[in-house]
Amino acid sequence: MSDQRPIGVFDSGVGGLTVLREIVRRTPSESTIYLGDNARAPYGVRSDEEVLAFSSQSLDALADRDVKAIVVACNTSTAVGIGALRRRYDLPILGVIRPGASAAALASRNRRVGVIATPATIRSHAYFSAIKDENPAVEVYEHATPALVPLVEAGHLAGPIAEAAVAESLAPLLGERDAEGEFIFPKPPGASIDTLLLGCTHYPLLRAVIAAQVGEGMAIVDSATATASALAELLNVNGLESPAGGGPAAHLQLTTGDAGRFHELASRLFGADFPEVEAVDLGVAAG
Ligand code: DGL
Repeated sequence: MSDQRPIGVFDSGVGGLTVLREIVRRTPSESTIYLGDNARAPYGVRSDEEVLAFSSQSLDALADRDVKAIVVACNTSTAVGIGALRRRYDLPILGVIRPGASAAALASRNRRVGVIATPATIRSHAYFSAIKDENPAVEVYEHATPALVPLVEAGHLAGPIAEAAVAESLAPLLGERDAEGEFIFPKPPGASIDTLLLGCTHYPLLRAVIAAQVGEGMAIVDSATATASALAELLNVNGLESPAGGGPAAHLQLTTGDAGRFHELASRLFGADFPEVEAVDLGVAAG
């Protein structure tokens, strides 16, 4: 069995492109339709009701385009609404929390994992539960970092502004270090984590800045690769892989925001050959 229809990929903005990139790498013959709800991003500082309503409207738009499966490439939507979203459609819906949680639980040698994410994701404790399901012995330190999504959406991926925002965001989790790189006592709660899970699909775009600040001993894990592998498995198990010899994959990019701005940002993030972006109207007022 095979299925040539595209895979829908959804995020509140450009962050889900980090997942799309891994999906295209892992399953190059699959076509995709990406939808970023940039007009209403960021989701992570909104109420659960808003996140669920906006996510449902966005997934409706993808389902209307006859996708064969949907990847919710947004931790906030996954954390708040994956159950409700799965009940809404007769389609396989894959989230990003379980794949990321599993990767982090396996990466940690000292069984101490720090999670940074949006306030809505942290409030849900979805990562805490998912990591504990993988390995109950892992200590999980969750910390909301609301400054980082606006930073990425504004295109600050390196340089002094990004460095200052990342340092300030991580300090409550990691603490400050002295000149020798040792933590200044008393240690903050997550000071001896050996694994930092980037629990927001925007954060891998700041990976270099984050890596420079946490130091070499820290494993940095995100959901993108693990989600792409889970998708490949899902397609295989459900007989949904695109047929061999079915022609080249096509990739359509949609945004509820300004198509030119999305394209400019995506090209800076992913290279000048980033395909054209179409603006879509979900038929609802931007909140
Ligand atoms: N990229 C999304 C996430 O993974 C949401 C960011 C936002 O809109 O706040 O949580």
